[in-house]
Amino acid sequence: MTAPLFDDLKPQPERLYGRQRGHPLRARQQRLLDEALPRITFKAFDNPLQGFSRSVSGLFLEVGFGGGEHALDQSERHPDIGYIASEVFENGICSLLSRIMPEGEEMTAAPPENLRLWSDDARLLIKDLPDQCLDRAYLMFPDPWPKARHAKRRFVHPENIRQLARLLKKGAQWRIASDHPVYQEWVTEVMQAQPYFELASLTKTRPEGWSPTRYEAKAFREGRQPFYWTFIRRP
Ligand SMILES: C[S@@+](CC[C@H](N)C(=O)[O-])C[C@H]1O[C@@H](n2cnc3c(N)ncnc32)[C@H](O)[C@@H]1O
Repeated sequence: MTAPLFDDLKPQPERLYGRQRGHPLRARQQRLLDEALPRITFKAFDNPLQGFSRSVSGLFLEVGFGGGEHALDQSERHPDIGYIASEVFENGICSLLSRIMPEGEEMTAAPPENLRLWSDDARLLIKDLPDQCLDRAYLMFPDPWPKARHAKRRFVHPENIRQLARLLKKGAQWRIASDHPVYQEWVTEVMQAQPYFELASLTKTRPEGWSPTRYEAKAFREGRQPFYWTFIRRP
């Protein structure tokens, strides 16, 4: 792969590629989407710290939470932080909701006080959040889109990097993990070519304080070596 020059990359397509629906939903899953999801959906764009049912002192954002293991664990580890977790894949959203909403209480159970979901393209969320509102961002095992002609679909892309640079406070972390060699090379090259973030660490073992994810487990089962990057928003 040739080194991508940051300003020369083709723009991202507006439409989102990748699966948004999988198996047909069971009755409980449909109830979770109809009854529980609206109560936990993030809506507080003007003042994101107000978007939670407890007072929070900071804001973390996760793009593409998959089954939600990482989002739940991180939001529990940081009870004073408002955690916005985004995912477009319906079965993934149901998987997280089914863990936090007891069976039979989909219509009434209160969501975790510091966790809110965004069940649409994360790019629509990040373009509407105010400047420097985020204390951390996570991108765990993003879809790699390994074919060169699909490179513009990758989340690590100038437009998203510029948005996250606008949103993250100076000194805030952006954590990225990937097990795909093409994406690993891509992150290395694209992030070296941008001016907003500096690399704080790159490791091949999951750093202390990070949570496991389903895709990480799949990578280990299938013999792939994840990379874990921490980038810091430059002052
Ligand atoms: C390879 S999976 C990894 C899931 C999870 N982070 C993990 O590590 O198990 C990538 C996920 O990102 C989601 N995704 C991709 N683009 C997205 C976007 N623009 N907004 C929200 N979610 C997105 C996909 O639906 C998919 O579930």
